[in-house]
Amino acid sequence: MIITIDGPAGTGKSTVARLLAKRLEYRYLDTGALYRVITYQALKNKISADDPARMAKLLKSIRVSFKEGKASQQVMLNGKNLTGEIRRPHITNNVYQYAELPLVRKAMLKIQREIGKKHSIVGEGRDLGSVVFPDAKIKFYLNATVKERALRRYKELKKKGIKDSYSKVLKEIKERDKRDTTRKLAPLRKAKGAIRVDTTSLSIQQVINKLLKLACCILEADRLIQIK
Ligand code: DC
Repeated sequence: MIITIDGPAGTGKSTVARLLAKRLEYRYLDTGALYRVITYQALKNKISADDPARMAKLLKSIRVSFKEGKASQQVMLNGKNLTGEIRRPHITNNVYQYAELPLVRKAMLKIQREIGKKHSIVGEGRDLGSVVFPDAKIKFYLNATVKERALRRYKELKKKGIKDSYSKVLKEIKERDKRDTTRKLAPLRKAKGAIRVDTTSLSIQQVINKLLKLACCILEADRLIQIK
């Protein structure tokens, strides 16, 4: 069973997907973390996104794995825990350059599909319903107004001690939206068959309840159709 949750930054996708996976006892797949890990490693080794030969070598040398932690999922690269590192602003601001490279997307596609073959998952990202798992039984597309998403990100950064202004965060979210939706390969868009959910005025728990109800409806309808 595969459930995909796509949408722009700040819609609550990660928290919702993780908690939903927990409720259903599925694996949580944070695909943004994969692109962030590649970016971390490329920047660390001073590999430019314009250097396909070195990028190809880097992609061959990496082994990414996920481990369930108490409060969040832990992301490991070649055994090293990078969970905190990959959320830093310099990774967030550079990840788009690497995430749009065809060779990076091809390698990540393989990793994601391998995980999907082995486990029932709730996966979240930008292209899970449209490219990675187009045949997923249940697909969601989360959205919220850009102001609300920026406010959520602003509060999250504040909690971490990062004192960026609200207007700076809003500007960055708008830039990320533009990059995510206009890139050539696997741009962010609502996948065919995905259910759109606006989270602007909903709490995380309300979103989870809504997605659970919708998922159960789809599964029950499928069952009834099969025994017809
Ligand atoms: O969801 P996030 O902010 O952790 O994503 C980090 C970056 O990775 C973001 O720039 C979009 C990109 N991404 C992507 O291109 N495809 C995905 N399936 C997930 C994330």
